[in-house]
Amino acid sequence: MGGTLEINIPYALTAELTHRCPLHCVYCSNPIELQKRERELTTPDWINILEEAADLGIVQVHLTGGEPLLRPDVDRIIKRARELDLYVNLITSGVGVTEKRIRQLAHAGIDSIQLSVQAPTAELGDAIAGSFAHEYKKRTAAWIREAGLPLHMNVVLHRQNIHAVEEMIELCVSWGAERLELANAQYYGWALLNRQHLLPTKAQLAAAEEAYARAKARYGRQIELIWVIPDYYEDFPKPCMGGWSSISMTVTPDGRVLPCMAASGIQTMKFESVKEKSLKWIWEESPSFNAYRGFDWMVEPCRSCEHRFRDFGGCRCQAFLLTGDSQQADPVCSRSPHHGIITGIISSINDTNTEDHERTDSGADPLFPFYSYRGR
Ligand code: FES
Repeated sequence: MGGTLEINIPYALTAELTHRCPLHCVYCSNPIELQKRERELTTPDWINILEEAADLGIVQVHLTGGEPLLRPDVDRIIKRARELDLYVNLITSGVGVTEKRIRQLAHAGIDSIQLSVQAPTAELGDAIAGSFAHEYKKRTAAWIREAGLPLHMNVVLHRQNIHAVEEMIELCVSWGAERLELANAQYYGWALLNRQHLLPTKAQLAAAEEAYARAKARYGRQIELIWVIPDYYEDFPKPCMGGWSSISMTVTPDGRVLPCMAASGIQTMKFESVKEKSLKWIWEESPSFNAYRGFDWMVEPCRSCEHRFRDFGGCRCQAFLLTGDSQQADPVCSRSPHHGIITGIISSINDTNTEDHERTDSGADPLFPFYSYRGR
């Protein structure tokens, strides 16, 4: 019944350089307990991690946070990564960045920069980010293009901005983006805390999918549009991370190594640190990385389900956050005995919100004052 335990070579490393951030986004997937600056790894620590990652066969590094550009050593980290022949992508809010800083990143050898945006207008975008950010992002986008770098953008979709998918695509095209990830919010960290105000209604979602399809037809190859599915409304769960510990690993600001960015939310698991173990040992031998590899760990209904080779039982983090047991089937799955948790949440959202949702003239939800803003 179980499959053979196969350990792949990891493909990507997500390096969370810091949890510090000028934004306070209500959907942030960082943990509720943010790490303080004093606990952050040093530059030599990160250089060592990159060297171990390259030895392990990793080919791609995502520098993220928080805001990775708050670390003054980013250039040195990028340079070393490029010397090791790693593809380097940096994910930034674009706030507090200067034109000179972007040129320095280009000089250091960065391969691509992904810029986040919250909404098509400054008024709504700044309300979601909890700070004045939109106009800074516009300038940063221009500097990225002027430096000759590919501009990749991402927007997290939720009840406050999903009505404006088409306008957001237009905005990103006008800023010169080559690629835009339209990522429906995933409910971990701060997004889970704010879920009641963030989860869109079914009608909003249907309208957004139509808008996405129209834009795809209109822009063709001018911009690569990626639609990240709205998990809670699916019948079967997402194949989260391509399966636990299958293709990538994440290092947190203090050096813990996780199979995914949300795994620190699984309070019943212990994750090893680069301060004590090598990346190779953690990837191949640690109990945490091996806990949900393969299929033998599964309980019913996943254990005998024909979908298990495609969705791997869904997301372990979501299973823990919603049921308290990370071994259970992801409750998003319609076959899960815990699926009632999801249908209950969806009903409560769809029963209490009208189709076009009550908005102020500015487009912002009157409930904004009741959100929990990250890091505030
Ligand atoms: Fe951790 Fe899905 S986010 S396994």
